[in-house]
Amino acid sequence: MHSQLYSNIPDLFINRYVSRSPMVVTHLVTSMCNARCKTCNLWKKTREHKDDMTKEEIFRMLDKAKEARISGYVAWGGEPLLRKDLPEILHYAKNKKISTTVITNGYFLKDRCDEIARFTDFLIVSIDANDELHDEMRGVKGMRERAIEGIVAYKNRKTDTKIIINCTVSKLNLGKIDGLIELSRDLGILIAFEPMEIIQGYNEHLQPDSEELRTAFSRIIKYKKSGYKIVNSVQYIKNFAVKKKYVCHAPKFYITVDAHGNIFSCEFRKNPWGNIKEKSFKEIFSSDDFKRFCKQSEKCNLCNVSCVIESSLAYKLDPLFMLDKLKHLDT
Ligand SMILES: C[S@@+](CC[C@H](N)C(=O)[O-])C[C@H]1O[C@@H](n2cnc3c(N)ncnc32)[C@H](O)[C@@H]1O
Ligand code: SF4
Ligand code: SF4
Repeated sequence: MHSQLYSNIPDLFINRYVSRSPMVVTHLVTSMCNARCKTCNLWKKTREHKDDMTKEEIFRMLDKAKEARISGYVAWGGEPLLRKDLPEILHYAKNKKISTTVITNGYFLKDRCDEIARFTDFLIVSIDANDELHDEMRGVKGMRERAIEGIVAYKNRKTDTKIIINCTVSKLNLGKIDGLIELSRDLGILIAFEPMEIIQGYNEHLQPDSEELRTAFSRIIKYKKSGYKIVNSVQYIKNFAVKKKYVCHAPKFYITVDAHGNIFSCEFRKNPWGNIKEKSFKEIFSSDDFKRFCKQSEKCNLCNVSCVIESSLAYKLDPLFMLDKLKHLDT
């Protein structure tokens, strides 16, 4: 998600002043997952994958996205590289001049990088520790090694894709931040950090307390200030390092479609807006209900994740934030 923020700076202005509707659709392109992560329980939905949208249904979704002036498509899941037709989906989006991001655990990256490289603007590879802890956290032997091999293979394709490591910060990997920053430097790619979101009944015990987060993000900010290529903006990091509040604009910035086509904003409104097979984004975005919800969400502060806080900063067109993002354009 942070990726889409600096690929589309002109679109940010259109989003803010002209269309006044979300500019990014994040899509759980499949429910299938090959991992068993300790921080994320989406792998449990694997058995629902028979009802995942078909390729043709996803093409229609992308048509509707274009019609609603959406300019960014993020494919995640589940594990997107388990979907055979992912390259065709990304190609379809690119043909519509919609920029593309793939978020992957990297297990199949080496095998599939040739297929997706031409159609992927941003590749986010999730790595939570640069040692054996990563495999433990993901419940898959060889996951770290394969993700790194995949990044190296992808880089050898010499595409324009920007590659970013995404680290989900939990109690388990607080001590692994320095090693990951060094890994991103050695690979010559960007890195981002996210505090984990709580999934009730699954991962609460792994949530770092505010002091642990403050210590971790204070270290991250020092690395960033000394020139390491850390994608999170200084303003975002400061939310944890010095405790700041933000006004949430995330629902005005992006919308999420699950693997079966249900359209969601966020936790602040648990009910779907409808299903993309029957409804259009345009219809939803122009409804009074949606506009009212976006206004009310400005008072909510539930989320810690960068996609929410950074999209809120982007929405304000905060000049310091924009400069921070622009710095990574040539990386
Ligand atoms: C749900 S995964 C889907 C894509 C792919 N399977 C992967 O792992 O990269 C998307 C991102 O969420 C991260 N993630 C996992 N658990 C999380 C949590 N509890 N809170 C926030 N992000 C989390 C993953 O590490 C990954 O970067
Ligand atoms: S983080 Fe990704 S790989 Fe791990 S369970 Fe969730 S969807 Fe699967
Ligand atoms: S902070 Fe609240 S309104 Fe904003 S994205 Fe999170 S749950 Fe939704």
